[in-house]
Amino acid sequence: MTAAPPFAMIAGIGAAVPAGLLTNADLERTLDTSNEWIIERTGIRERHIAAPGETLTSYTLVAAHRAMERAGVTAADLDGIIFATVTPDHRLPSASCDLQAALGANCAWAFDVVAACPGWLYGLSIADGLMRAGMGDTILVIGAEKLSSIVDYEDRATAILFGDGAGAAVVTRATGDGRGILSSYIGADGNLAPLLHIPGGGSAEALTEEVLRSKRQFVKMAGREVFKAAVLAMSRSTDEAIGRAGLTPDAIDLLIPHQANLRIIEATAKHACISMDKVMVNLERYGNTSSASIPLALQQAELEGRLTPGMVVMLVSFGAGFTWASVVVRW
Ligand code: ACO
Repeated sequence: MTAAPPFAMIAGIGAAVPAGLLTNADLERTLDTSNEWIIERTGIRERHIAAPGETLTSYTLVAAHRAMERAGVTAADLDGIIFATVTPDHRLPSASCDLQAALGANCAWAFDVVAACPGWLYGLSIADGLMRAGMGDTILVIGAEKLSSIVDYEDRATAILFGDGAGAAVVTRATGDGRGILSSYIGADGNLAPLLHIPGGGSAEALTEEVLRSKRQFVKMAGREVFKAAVLAMSRSTDEAIGRAGLTPDAIDLLIPHQANLRIIEATAKHACISMDKVMVNLERYGNTSSASIPLALQQAELEGRLTPGMVVMLVSFGAGFTWASVVVRW
């Protein structure tokens, strides 16, 4: 099967994290856990955490400016902003409208995507589709989280995993040289929601004293079950995007998977027959930053010279919902 030439491309990538660090040694002091356990079971050593009062918009703005600079565009050039997050600064208005105002991107439409960890890949797919429909030629796609605002730091099952961060891409029309988004695939299964969710604080269970006392405003996760579902969904998503791009796994030059757990990444790479030297891993420094995780890894790969024009890059993610997504890009 030969896939159609790409319509849209990533013209610039940017990322940023808050300065604050939470190390495994810090967690050892407050939780019944150990540095050895966390590294062995997850691969994570430290995560960046926003300081009190530091907003999601503040560090997302830095990531957005970096992506725009790399793409050679200004805020006035943006036709739209798609912001993937589960931790907006406000319930109303959207994170995308907060960012639009902070950027001064006055001609851009703006909306949020709530798809947990694969949210940024959902955003890329939507940007590609909207461009094909004539809804813009320059779209800013953000994946950014302040997960520290929804984590219970007395729950060792989740406190060790998550970090804060922001990633951004400027998506423009492909230039006709073969570079761009070759294929994308998104999926969901809401039946498995109770394995990874926040039960309280929404309109179904408003934020009452009882909700706060029972900590139902925080993330609850059945780790082992989520782990199994993640390996299955990431493996299937990888197959799907490679097939839709008309490629075989040996064409993949670099795999950039969601940075949740090193063992999930290794299992996904093994399933796709992609050797670990072709896999980008940076979760030891950032933990799981949900929708920011892939653009953070992409920016690092580019800065380290691991991403060069013409390379075929496979992006794949999985998260709460459950949701999953995969995108193949010729860089
Ligand atoms: N420190 C020490 N011991 C711990 C810790 C901890 N932080 N957490 C759990 N344990 C203990 C458990 O109590 C259990 O003890 P027991 O055997 O005496 O009962 C033992 O370690 C094993 O527990 P498991 O939960 O089976 O450990 P597992 O190897 O599965 O690792 C983990 C847990 C790291 C959470 C893993 O399951 C995981 O990564 N799951 C996937 C998470 C994920 O990918 N989420 C992605 C989506 S995130 C999103 O959408 C926002």
